[in-house]
Amino acid sequence: MVAGRMTGMTTPVAVIVDAVAYAQAVEDALKASAAYYEGGTSVLDDDAYDRLVRGIAAWEAGHPDQVLPDSPTGKVAGGAVEGDVPHTVAMLSLDNVFSPEEFTAWTVSLARRIGHEVEHFSVEPKLDGLAIAARYSQGRLTQLVTRGDGTAGEDVSHAIGTIEGLPGELTEPLTLEARGEVLMTTAQFEHANEVRTAHGGQPFANPRNAAAGTLRAKERAYTVPMTFFGYGLLPVSGTEADEAARLGELAHSELMARAAELGVNTTAGTAVPGITAATAEQVLARVQEIGALRAELPFGIDGIVVKADLAADQRSAGSGSRAPRWAIAYKLPAVEKITRLLAVEWNVGRTGIIAPRAVLEPVEIDGSTITYATLHNPADITRRDLRLGDHVMVHRAGDVIPRIEAPVAHLRTGEEQSIVFPETCPNCGSAIDTSEQRWRCEQGRNCHLVAALSYAAGRDQLDIEGLGHTRVVQLVEAGLAADLADLFSLTRDQLLGLERMGETSTDNLLAAIEAAKGQPLSRVLCALGVRGTGRSMSRRIARYFATMELVRAADAETMQRVEGIGTEKAPSIVAELAELAPLIDKLVAAGVNMTEPGATPPAPAGEDDPNTEGGEAAGGPLAGMTVVVTGAMTGALEQLSRNQMNELIERAGGRSSSSVSKKTTLVVAGEGAGSKRAKAETLGIRLAAPEEFATLVADYLT
Ligand code: IVH
Repeated sequence: MVAGRMTGMTTPVAVIVDAVAYAQAVEDALKASAAYYEGGTSVLDDDAYDRLVRGIAAWEAGHPDQVLPDSPTGKVAGGAVEGDVPHTVAMLSLDNVFSPEEFTAWTVSLARRIGHEVEHFSVEPKLDGLAIAARYSQGRLTQLVTRGDGTAGEDVSHAIGTIEGLPGELTEPLTLEARGEVLMTTAQFEHANEVRTAHGGQPFANPRNAAAGTLRAKERAYTVPMTFFGYGLLPVSGTEADEAARLGELAHSELMARAAELGVNTTAGTAVPGITAATAEQVLARVQEIGALRAELPFGIDGIVVKADLAADQRSAGSGSRAPRWAIAYKLPAVEKITRLLAVEWNVGRTGIIAPRAVLEPVEIDGSTITYATLHNPADITRRDLRLGDHVMVHRAGDVIPRIEAPVAHLRTGEEQSIVFPETCPNCGSAIDTSEQRWRCEQGRNCHLVAALSYAAGRDQLDIEGLGHTRVVQLVEAGLAADLADLFSLTRDQLLGLERMGETSTDNLLAAIEAAKGQPLSRVLCALGVRGTGRSMSRRIARYFATMELVRAADAETMQRVEGIGTEKAPSIVAELAELAPLIDKLVAAGVNMTEPGATPPAPAGEDDPNTEGGEAAGGPLAGMTVVVTGAMTGALEQLSRNQMNELIERAGGRSSSSVSKKTTLVVAGEGAGSKRAKAETLGIRLAAPEEFATLVADYLT
């Protein structure tokens, strides 16, 4: 059967083409399954495993005579460890459905089997942990047994006392077995990994692995708590006959109430308690409800278990060798996948909080492609021992931001790199306050202002000498600059009042600020820091429109006439300029230049526009040329930064570019030029020494 998923159709089955691939698939599944039940971490996440097993089943359906004896499809527990404690009643598995249609089909076949509609269903979450049998003798918890292969399991009684929800003593002195799921809540998992890594161990990839590993671990130097949720209560050999008879007659919902009465934890106290439902529609509504609550639950669920509630209905439905016919697991889409951690970005929020964010190899989880995951804070990274290049288990449920659960430590190759923490604020360069778990830029809410002003004063923007990072911090902290325009109203007295500000530096700074007022429009635009426009885009806009007035008057359509601005960028530039209007007005009032020397305004709409692509400004010696600069500039060009070289090229009518291609017409190659020069030579592109180029553009050198 090829199963459709409720949402997010990924490849539903692994396609197996021949007997060899089938044998390999069985082997892979067995390995993964062994890791699953033994507490190791499989290389396959649950979704991949499910697809593989469905692929195996599909192939077996067409080749019934070639089914391998150890195929996971025929096993009670899908292949498990050998145990030494026999189960009195086999611990069965559950069959799965993946869609409302499959579920309804199941109810129909169940009704046919028992000769009538199911009286009512019980609906409860499918807890994502490990099945366990807890044996009580005269009310005392005496033995814990894992499911093992379903007929016999491993004795894990050493875990008694570490599992919340499994009392050492029942409220009544009964002899019986409680069955249910042992898991770790999200908080227990975080704690377990902290303790484990503190003891030099590798972190567990997810709560399920953590529970499996912890349950089976003997003689550990530490214990970590887990949680039990019961979903079954059954008589054992020592159970009094009348009690055994009573248990045998109770509906599942009644058994759960009885378990709670005895002190055994059930889902009753959670946000997703077990309920009963009269119809398939009601069940499906509950499936939706539980699915919607999943992301917020403090423990993992991987589906919903639907059971015929009444003992009589269960009896007449009976069980197969692998699973009961009276119960089914409605699987929810997988919320976990393994992918790789490629990088860590450090983003500074509005309040100055520096938050790390994981950049992932894109992975699809439940229909969305995940590229980023939250990492909380630096301590969190250290605690999880995350490294660049690690395989990581990523969790994403509902609309909740994806998170990295843990590295998949056994997939390490040794080539993983440690994650480097920033030493200064990645946004504004100030010191970082690391006294709290969440790191914060010392500038707090001013961080973005400091970054914006430092950028605006930079060499390639307004080029205000003497206004470096430290000075900007001083101005901001003193409340003298709340925006870019405030720089132009700074007074001599205000500056002299700042620490380490003498007369000379004050006068120099005031002169530099005054000089900045005369910068061309391209640099003013760049200084404004409009998103999506760097130095060269600002120059193109300035050269196209020639005046700020025309830049501001442009709508998205007009903005697209500028080379390199497309339908996506244009509206955002226009919107941002509108947002910056008050600041621009303030700059105009302060006397800042708002024109681009040498540029001519575009022709009004309808007329031939000399400023559009191909017709760079009014001629110039570089008209129609694309020029690349490489190596060190000498002679008349010695003092020019790359940005200034590019400005010069554009003033002289050319187009500047940073990479050599077939479109390049001229490469200005100074001393030390390397690969770009070599590429120009191979492509037969004209080369010019700095001196030769200086002569060519002599009229445009300022
Ligand atoms: S009933 C004979 N109820 O899911 C009925 N199982 O995939 C067997 N599970 O082996 C179990 N939550 O480990 C049942 N509410 C629930 C469950 C649940 C989780 C697990 C259990 C079972 C596995 C089958």
